[in-house]
Amino acid sequence: MNAIDTMLQHRSIRNFSEKTVEKTVLDQILAAACNGSSMGGMQLFSIIVTQDKAMMQKMAPAHFNQPIATNAPLILTFCADFHRFDRYCECRQTPTDAYHNLQAYQWAVTDALIAAQNACVAAESLGLGLCWLGTITYNTPQFIEALQLPQHVVPVACIPMGYPATNDTPLTAKISWENLVHQETYHESSDEAINQMYAKMENCSNNINMVNDNGFENLAQDYVMRRYKKEDNEYFSQVLKDTLQKQGF
Ligand SMILES: Cc1cc2nc3c(=O)[nH]c(=O)nc-3n(C[C@H](O)[C@H](O)[C@H](O)COP(=O)(O)O)c2cc1C
Repeated sequence: MNAIDTMLQHRSIRNFSEKTVEKTVLDQILAAACNGSSMGGMQLFSIIVTQDKAMMQKMAPAHFNQPIATNAPLILTFCADFHRFDRYCECRQTPTDAYHNLQAYQWAVTDALIAAQNACVAAESLGLGLCWLGTITYNTPQFIEALQLPQHVVPVACIPMGYPATNDTPLTAKISWENLVHQETYHESSDEAINQMYAKMENCSNNINMVNDNGFENLAQDYVMRRYKKEDNEYFSQVLKDTLQKQGF
């Protein structure tokens, strides 16, 4: 499969076979992840590989005990990292405080996410399955402590991966790509166009059952009032602001 076929076949995998991921396979994934574009060529990210089940158990509560956080053979955590570049500057007797701010954080997040998605494409092209865990962006302080991250390092993506337990996981219903693309300038969508765009998601049986089971009238309500609620987002926004300050950004 070429890269485009791999990407078009993407689906999140949450159950894994017993088969271990060979070191040669993991090394290829990590090398591909680390070879992407980066801000000024500074490679402002680090990857933490977790394979120790005791470490997975330790971090499980911060992942809200999602089963995938302990049943995957390995987890890659991608961190925005200015610590290593700071160390380089220190070794060259060069000041580092130019980068202890939100602007530099944004560069490092971008570099880390480029590496993360490159790892995903590499892993899927080698037959592995994976699923991002957004919980890394909720309980960030717990992960900083567990992974012993120094100042100017913040975890931004967490991706358990392994060989899929089955090969029948369906593709997820999505908005057609043509609706996500605008030519030259942004074009506002009519209500009718919006209705059409979200129809595929609204009409898939998983979402219909979820909306019914939770007693909502539509999928939008389920998102806003249950899955990703305002009070949770405001609470975790404050956690993030405090964490960025504490980590020196
Ligand atoms: C930033 C991010 C966070 C996610 N967090 C979770 C998560 O915590 N648990 C989970 O089961 N899936 C998680 N996912 C997977 C999404 O639910 C999934 O990608 C989406 O429903 C689309 O399905 P697909 O990946 O099968 O195409 C996350 C995906 C992303 C990109």
